[in-house]
Amino acid sequence: MTSAEARQRIADLRAQVARHDELYHRQAKPEITDLEYDRLKRKLADLETQFPQFKTAGSPTERVGDDRIEGFAAYRHRQPMQSLDNTYSEDELRAFHQRLVKLFGREDLAYVVEPKIDGIAVSLTYEKGALVRAVTRGDGIEGDDITVNAQTIKALPPRLKAARGARLPEVIEIRGEIYMTLVEFQRINREREEAGEALFANPRNLTAGTIKQLDSREVARRRLEIVLYGLGFCEPAAVETQSGFHGLVRAWGLPTVEKFWTTHGIDETWRAVQELGGLRHAFAYATDGAVVKLDALAQQREAGSTAKAPRWAIAYKFAAERAETRLNAITVQVGRTGVLTPVAELEPVVLAGTTVARATLHNRDEIMRKDIRVGDFVRVEKAGEVIPAVVGVDLARRPADAAPYVFPDRCPVCGTRVVQYEGEVALRCPNPDCPAQVRRRVQHFASKAGVDIEGLGEAMVDTLVEKGWVKSLADIYRLRRDDLLTLGKSVEKSTDNLLAAIAASKRAELWRVINGLGIQHVGAAAAKDLARKFGSLEALAEAKRDDLLAIAGIGETMAEAITAHFNEPRNRALVSRLLALGLAPTAPARPAGGTTRLAGRTFVLTGTLPVLTREEATARIEAAGGKVSGSVSRKTSYVLAGAEAGSKLDKAKALGVPVIGEAEFLRMLGG
Ligand code: IVH
Repeated sequence: MTSAEARQRIADLRAQVARHDELYHRQAKPEITDLEYDRLKRKLADLETQFPQFKTAGSPTERVGDDRIEGFAAYRHRQPMQSLDNTYSEDELRAFHQRLVKLFGREDLAYVVEPKIDGIAVSLTYEKGALVRAVTRGDGIEGDDITVNAQTIKALPPRLKAARGARLPEVIEIRGEIYMTLVEFQRINREREEAGEALFANPRNLTAGTIKQLDSREVARRRLEIVLYGLGFCEPAAVETQSGFHGLVRAWGLPTVEKFWTTHGIDETWRAVQELGGLRHAFAYATDGAVVKLDALAQQREAGSTAKAPRWAIAYKFAAERAETRLNAITVQVGRTGVLTPVAELEPVVLAGTTVARATLHNRDEIMRKDIRVGDFVRVEKAGEVIPAVVGVDLARRPADAAPYVFPDRCPVCGTRVVQYEGEVALRCPNPDCPAQVRRRVQHFASKAGVDIEGLGEAMVDTLVEKGWVKSLADIYRLRRDDLLTLGKSVEKSTDNLLAAIAASKRAELWRVINGLGIQHVGAAAAKDLARKFGSLEALAEAKRDDLLAIAGIGETMAEAITAHFNEPRNRALVSRLLALGLAPTAPARPAGGTTRLAGRTFVLTGTLPVLTREEATARIEAAGGKVSGSVSRKTSYVLAGAEAGSKLDKAKALGVPVIGEAEFLRMLGG
């Protein structure tokens, strides 16, 4: 490679890495796997070593990714948050050890081997035992203050438990990872699917998206978890070793890694890494590798760091499980909102224990970028070990006649020319009467999470739409017995059952109807909140943005989606038509205590209440028209304090803000 070529290639790679950094760290929407990313970065680093004249301080190989976004206050870490060098090779792990052997002049160095958690890095600051701040890594020097969001994590204690006899440090920064369990991830994706929203590919992306929500009420709806594994700044010093650190944070009541190994020398260390590899699927968090750290903090200090990563630690990453198989066809599905999703129809292959026959290809751009062609042998990987994805093509096995894939420019179902809205990657069928969209909308409306019409399952909906009897949700209530009876012999009984179920659905609970309408971003939980607050479809259709925002759990995005939905004449007409056809949903009883008792009052919560959780207290305040804020100011009406209240209590006293306990709070609500 000539020097000019190298320069060009380095510039290319930097641009690519920078783009993927942005997608991963800020947007939480990575387009390539970690392995592909690590390879790009490795290529760049190799070229920079080979052509040092082109190495610049701004290169992505010299800094950690930056997760900071608009809307959060910046906070400077007392001690920088570094990244880790990583490797997929045993040899490189051994080379890491050899460098340290050379430095310390001994073979039997003590290490800690612990899981590398695939979540979002966070730094917690505890002052005199009280949690005062949670900050993202940011660029390693300065991160986003996400304290209020982190406080929604149930397992995160607002105060450290003092170990007997031991004093708590004045100030300590504890590093860890915020994550989401697979169960919670699947629950949220299910809800999103019901609401017709794009699914998250893996728990990490969902965690990243959640922790950067500006509205902490939305964060509280998703259950986040945390695990702590590292020490940042600490004054005065609390421990001498990494293994001691794990013991200490556990004693303080913080969630720690499920298992770690203390090892000596590299052979024992390598065995521990492999053992961890075998156990990792049983951990509560996604574990994509093992981190090997020198155990003695004194040795860590001596080994020091490079510009971005410590020399005393390395991450050994387990390669994602992948398989190669033939791409038999690409089909294009049309979703409820018209989004066209290409799907890879694969020759079935076993991957990480399950048979995979289909995988999403995301969108047109993705297919073009990877140049995926029908007939190709493709590599399939479980990204984040959840949803299979096609990560690349085996060009060596490409059939001679494989032609580039041409994405349809017309909806495969109704033939309407597809459109691409500004700022979207997705192509959509813009025809709201497209039978595919109607089918999905009707299926959703009639589903268990909707008005729950027994007998109106997928196959039946397909038939009704095909026959042209159902073109909109309202048509469900116009179905004629005579028509239905033509669907087969001896269908009398099932027809009557279906008609009875349809008639009964007119009295479905209001939240089911709201959920069934398929308003973007509105899932079952939000539908329940809306039903409780508005009590009728008519009232919801008239709701103003501010009315919506006053509801616990409804944030900007949802409020906007709801008003946009009902501003659409078509959607308003549908509501009127449904009502005219006799739909009369049952409204929930209003919660006791009314909805205005605490109007205009702002509460700050601190400490642990005897009965109510933080979320419950918040919900009650908001249901009664009050507001909850994260910090105490002169504008705060009350500080609701429980056991082990922190610095907020001191501040309330200093500012003369009234402090109340749970009992008084419940009295305010009216019992
Ligand atoms: S130690 C200075 N330990 O992986 C030491 N990091 O790829 C750096 N991570 O930034 C951190 N599990 O966000 C450490 N057991 C673990 C970890 C871990 C996950 C994350 C962390 C770090 C990133 C580097």
